[in-house]
Amino acid sequence: MVSVQLISLLEPIRPQIERVEGLVDEKLAAVEEPLQTMLRRSVGGGKHLRPALIILIGQMFAVPLEPFHRLAAAVDMLHAATLIHDDLVDRSALRRGRETLHTIWPAGATVLAGDYLLGQATLLIAELEHPPVCKVFADVLCTMCAGEIRRMLSAQDAPERWQDYYRGIEAKTASLFAASAEMAAILAGAEASQRTALCCFARELGIAFQIVDDVLDLTGNEVLLGKPQGSDLRQGLLTLPILYYLESRANPNPVSTVLAGQRDEAQVRAAIEAVCASEAIEAALQEASNHVRCGQEALATLPDNESCRLLGSLAAYVVERER
Ligand code: IPE
Ligand code: IPE
Ligand code: MG
Ligand code: MG
Repeated sequence: MVSVQLISLLEPIRPQIERVEGLVDEKLAAVEEPLQTMLRRSVGGGKHLRPALIILIGQMFAVPLEPFHRLAAAVDMLHAATLIHDDLVDRSALRRGRETLHTIWPAGATVLAGDYLLGQATLLIAELEHPPVCKVFADVLCTMCAGEIRRMLSAQDAPERWQDYYRGIEAKTASLFAASAEMAAILAGAEASQRTALCCFARELGIAFQIVDDVLDLTGNEVLLGKPQGSDLRQGLLTLPILYYLESRANPNPVSTVLAGQRDEAQVRAAIEAVCASEAIEAALQEASNHVRCGQEALATLPDNESCRLLGSLAAYVVERER
């Protein structure tokens, strides 16, 4: 379920997004069964934020959009592949309102389906015949994987847990937003200073996006989100709203109890309610807004046209969203 607000925001580039979906569809149509069914369950139904970022940058520089469609399709496939793997790692049963692959097929086949999708995404990138873009694409995949492995294997109660949180969301989420902008800027032939500004904008957007994702994990509506609520706490993950809550509470409290390993449903519910009733949600959202503002400031140095203004609105949407 895509929010009305996002649909109207992306309306000016709807034909472009449909072309991106068409390219993904072309790639999947040639895939054998049952792999094709697995992949069709994983792509589609997303919000297309990263493709929108890429298309809008192409339009901003008024260059032919065909390579941007291909780039956007590749990034959306890479994104979908990381979600297949993420849901397996997070043991999450729902994505985009549908059962996740690993709840239907064996874990091994799920991992390989994600890998296959990465292969297809790489084929699309190769078709651009642009080595600098290919390098950014490969680099971001390495960054995302290394970041997630670091998070999985690091101690949750380390003294530098605030820095760890930021380092983690930069690696797993902001990096793909920034890389999308960078690849689009390269394709558009943007000057070095414009490239830097676009990367800065997209990185701030990505950071804000993940902070809001972490807030929605606590406050959101499962049907609207299309993924399980409370999933981060159930895994014992320290997200920004949780860090704010813990900072201002003595131990033990409903959240520390869950983090210490008592994770039955009633305890998780009580912890979610405690955080939602606290000032931690507002503090985290304020931080997301600050990142959006920094990102919007970076846009000031770019061509002042309709696409640039839409990028600014997309950034504002990220904090207001419910999905
Ligand atoms: C989900 O990203 C993963 C995160 C980085 C939080 P999106 O919320 O953009 O996923 P879809 O594509 O819209 O489903
Ligand atoms: C984002 O983190 C994961 C990726 C970037 C792949 P989350 O684990 O919070 O994403 P959701 O909430 O499952 O979409
Ligand atoms: Mg997850
Ligand atoms: Mg999440």
